[in-house]
Amino acid sequence: MTIIRSHLIGTGYKLPAKILTNDDLSQMVDTNDEWISTRTGIKSRHIAAEGELTSDLSYEAALMAIQNAQIKNQEIDFIIVATVTGDHTFPATAAKLAKKLGLKPGTPAMDVNAACSGFVYASQIADNMIRLGQIKTALVIGAETLSRITDWTDRNTCVLFGDGAGAAIFQAVEGLGTKDDTGLLATKIYADGEQFDRLYSASGVSIDQKAGYIHMDGKEVFKVAVPSLVQGVEESLKIAGLSIEDVNWYVPHQANLRIIDSVAKKLNIDMEKVIVTVDHHGNTSAASIPLALAESFAAGKFKKGDVIAISAMGAGFTWGGMILRL
Ligand code: COA
Repeated sequence: MTIIRSHLIGTGYKLPAKILTNDDLSQMVDTNDEWISTRTGIKSRHIAAEGELTSDLSYEAALMAIQNAQIKNQEIDFIIVATVTGDHTFPATAAKLAKKLGLKPGTPAMDVNAACSGFVYASQIADNMIRLGQIKTALVIGAETLSRITDWTDRNTCVLFGDGAGAAIFQAVEGLGTKDDTGLLATKIYADGEQFDRLYSASGVSIDQKAGYIHMDGKEVFKVAVPSLVQGVEESLKIAGLSIEDVNWYVPHQANLRIIDSVAKKLNIDMEKVIVTVDHHGNTSAASIPLALAESFAAGKFKKGDVIAISAMGAGFTWGGMILRL
């Protein structure tokens, strides 16, 4: 029996030109390269220029993905942007992008706020729509300007985050419904609102009409991040009918190299198969996974038939995973 699968047909990314190094940060707060490097693995991050918006980064990432997919903008049937730093309170950044990209009139456009798990959430929504036959081609973007909600006087958080955007285009292709199919083989998402105040902004439209700054209980987030990222991979592998031995590449959310190391050990996957970009991107929340995917494609790392496992974890808490065969 044939079924519809979502194939990844193109990716793209955009990083702001400005690079902020650990040494730069040591001029701003009481920190140093040694502390940041050993605790997080981060060496540098990109920071959006004044007036450079989440929609601008998303637009450039989308153009690159469209070009790589070799499709026309008008072929896109759905646009979804995962972000916690959209341009406007409303409407959605996706709606603004639909206009900028000249998508065909009536193309549904929405944002999703699932923090660092946003790309996995958005991909699941797009995949479900594709598999139901509601749409054929989806543009899924993860994009952030976290620098705008970073307290640059707080050394506990300001060293961790960065700006950027990644885009992915998924398209319907018939499969046989077996574990040997290509395309998205599984997606799985979770949330636990009990952990809401471990990682949050104290402000908001309904509270005080402000965006607020990132607050984080780093130690607690770290503890929960590891098992959540492991579960995202293990559960989605189970749904796909595959095991860790089938995985060619693991693309984790990029928050901290120590978290990634520890997840890789628990999954029993060699670090050679793990994509690491946190060293030069920092934590870009919803943008981190599509950025890592697009940068790896551009570097020629992936080949046809590779199985990619992905997992993410972030504020909410939210977490999840997905399995993709190219
Ligand atoms: N430079 C120098 N010292 C710093 C510092 C910085 N940038 N930030 C914190 N410190 C200090 C602290 O004040 C503390 O000092 P004290 O012991 O005198 O109070 C000390 O370093 C240790 O801090 P601690 O919080 O114990 O460090 P840690 O080993 O837990 O590492 C994080 C901190 C934030 C790097 C780590 O907890 C982490 O990565 N957490 C998960 C974050 C994350 O991934 N969030 C996003 C998930 S989507």
